[in-house]
Amino acid sequence: MNREHLGVLGAGWVGLATAASFAELGHDVVVRDVVPERVAALKAGKVPIHEPGLPEMLARHRDRVRFTDDISEVVGSTEIVFVCVGTPSTYSGEADLSAVWRIVDELARVEQSLLLVMKSTVPVRTGEQVRARLDALELAHVGYVANPEFLSEGTALADFNEPDRVVVGAFEPADGDRVAALYEPLEAPIVRTDVASAEMIKLASNAALATRISFINEIANVCELVGADVEEVARGVGLDHRLGPHFLRPGIGYGGSCFPKDASALKQLAANSGYHFQLLSAVIEVNELQKRRVVQKLRAHLGDLRGRTVALLGLSFKPNTNDMREAPSLVLAPRLLAEGAVVRAWDPVALPSARTLLGGVQLTETLLEALEDADAALIVTEWPELRALVSPEVRHAMRTPLIVDGRNMLDPEAVRAAGFVYEGIGRPSAARSPRPGVEEPRRELA
Ligand SMILES: NC(=O)c1ccc[n+]([C@@H]2O[C@H](COP(=O)([O-])OP(=O)(O)OC[C@H]3O[C@@H](n4cnc5c(N)ncnc54)[C@H](O)[C@@H]3O)[C@@H](O)[C@H]2O)c1
Repeated sequence: MNREHLGVLGAGWVGLATAASFAELGHDVVVRDVVPERVAALKAGKVPIHEPGLPEMLARHRDRVRFTDDISEVVGSTEIVFVCVGTPSTYSGEADLSAVWRIVDELARVEQSLLLVMKSTVPVRTGEQVRARLDALELAHVGYVANPEFLSEGTALADFNEPDRVVVGAFEPADGDRVAALYEPLEAPIVRTDVASAEMIKLASNAALATRISFINEIANVCELVGADVEEVARGVGLDHRLGPHFLRPGIGYGGSCFPKDASALKQLAANSGYHFQLLSAVIEVNELQKRRVVQKLRAHLGDLRGRTVALLGLSFKPNTNDMREAPSLVLAPRLLAEGAVVRAWDPVALPSARTLLGGVQLTETLLEALEDADAALIVTEWPELRALVSPEVRHAMRTPLIVDGRNMLDPEAVRAAGFVYEGIGRPSAARSPRPGVEEPRRELA
């Protein structure tokens, strides 16, 4: 393997996982970010995001990974540069590519040959537009390759190093060869394709995953009406080899930095191209409604929420990350406050981010503080720590022992046997099938 000098633009989840993993494969990497505090922290050995294994991997390769806020340190010393900047949603739901265009403009004076590799998720035809801009800037010596990233936060390093596939879309086959060669040690299938198809593979993959989530959530909602248990249903459906078990986990909807923005970007891309993507519009709408359904469940048990204390448990959009982008907690907290509830919230890693994002919410350092005199515990993120909820200590701490499990992470039988009232998503409620010896919940709580 050739030891390459690689550049990475953007020190977020994708950029840092990319840098650490290529260093692990033996390459030298220089990472540039535009936030000076982020660069200073990384230089001091502090990793500004919560991603398991990442601090250790970066520490192992301190001699091979450098950090800078200066673009010239990247373009001056590397030949292959991975673009890993954010592409958030604009107000209209399209992808905001301003960080990408800033990078293209910053390359205006590059004299040596360079390969720009797009890892950020971008709309189809972005590559074509970047190519046109590079040509307009007389930068024919800067190549372009689409290499979308599929990692998930919380398992970013494993996903990067054992990918289901690597997608490489190139205008020039030789450019694609060069990028594909970097991934050869991973022994994963490499999908070589054109740039537009590579861009679409990423958007279509996320749209398909989001569709499965909204599908099982709607099945869950119907299960509640007809007395079926969605967990049993998902198990039975997932055993069909044509469907498989993945992304059939009912809950309070997807969030995070990818699914919401990528689904919306694909919907907008289709609309701008003259096509109404009906299915994806429904997927997005179902997800929005799903986040709010748990408020109805609280009301069904507690009545008016005015003055009731609700403990929001888990604030990040999923466990093992402190990322709160598009997290359901950001919708639920203001909704509950608007209903007049007192909202307490706990999360093992996301409290610092939550301080600026969740005004009016009492943030607590411990789980028990959040539950003290609470009328309901609402599981928003399935942190493993929340298994400790089912304890006599918590039962006595709560004013009314209601657990609304937005992630179906607890065993309803065990929770009810411990003296709590349990509501999950798409699971038979206690009111429908009371267990002998367990009080009827509405009477107990109303
Ligand atoms: N987070 C994920 O799970 C994930 C997975 C797959 C793909 N993606 C895609 O990868 C891209 C990056 O996602 P992320 O979650 O790592 O984003 P992020 O917001 O965590 O990180 C982006 C970083 O880029 C920096 N930046 C902005 N402009 C810059 C510039 N001109 N030069 C250098 N750095 C700059 C920002 O300061 C920030 O630190 C997005 O397009 C996203 O959709 C993300």
